[in-house]
Amino acid sequence: MTKTADLEADIGEILLTEEAIASRVADLGRQIAADYAGRTLTLVSVLKGSLPFMADLMRQIPLPLRIDLMEVSSYGGTATESSGLVRIIKDLSASIADEDVLLVEDIIDTGLTLNYLVRYLRGKNPASLRICTLLDKPARRLVDIPVDYQGFEIPDQFVVGYGLDYGERYRNLRFVGVLRPEVYAGE
Ligand code: PRP
Repeated sequence: MTKTADLEADIGEILLTEEAIASRVADLGRQIAADYAGRTLTLVSVLKGSLPFMADLMRQIPLPLRIDLMEVSSYGGTATESSGLVRIIKDLSASIADEDVLLVEDIIDTGLTLNYLVRYLRGKNPASLRICTLLDKPARRLVDIPVDYQGFEIPDQFVVGYGLDYGERYRNLRFVGVLRPEVYAGE
């Protein structure tokens, strides 16, 4: 059986420690709570990568809020590159018409997934739609989308942990780290 220590051995460098993530998520929660004070917020998270971020962020926002979960996958790409062709695997459970919606993502890379999701959600007529991402990799951006809340800007390295995977592994690491290139060499 693979142990967490074995997963950690595949990490070349820890980019964001557990403590750094927790502190930044608390900052974001405070900022969001101040901005949405007196309103009823709906957080829409995009599985699977956003799961830990969503779970931590929602508990840092002391407002009445609803949550909903979508799952999308990009197809035609590879394990390290998204294709921009997005398929909805799980749709919203409830209407977001006239709601203040905050889309919660783990990472914006090319922006293609987000571009699709923003258009899709706007079509549901929310009262407002903003974007919150834990990680932003601007060097890879193909579509420019304004981000309202951003945890960290990161360099163009393949990162895993705190929800982010490679081949569905590493999501359960408590930190964000750079995957050793030899792990995905030959892809
Ligand atoms: C990741 C991430 C974003 C997307 C960002 O999801 O959660 O949705 O890629 O990439 P982009 O900006 O280049 O479109 P992924 O497709 O890996 O699914 P997962 O969350 O289930 O791991």
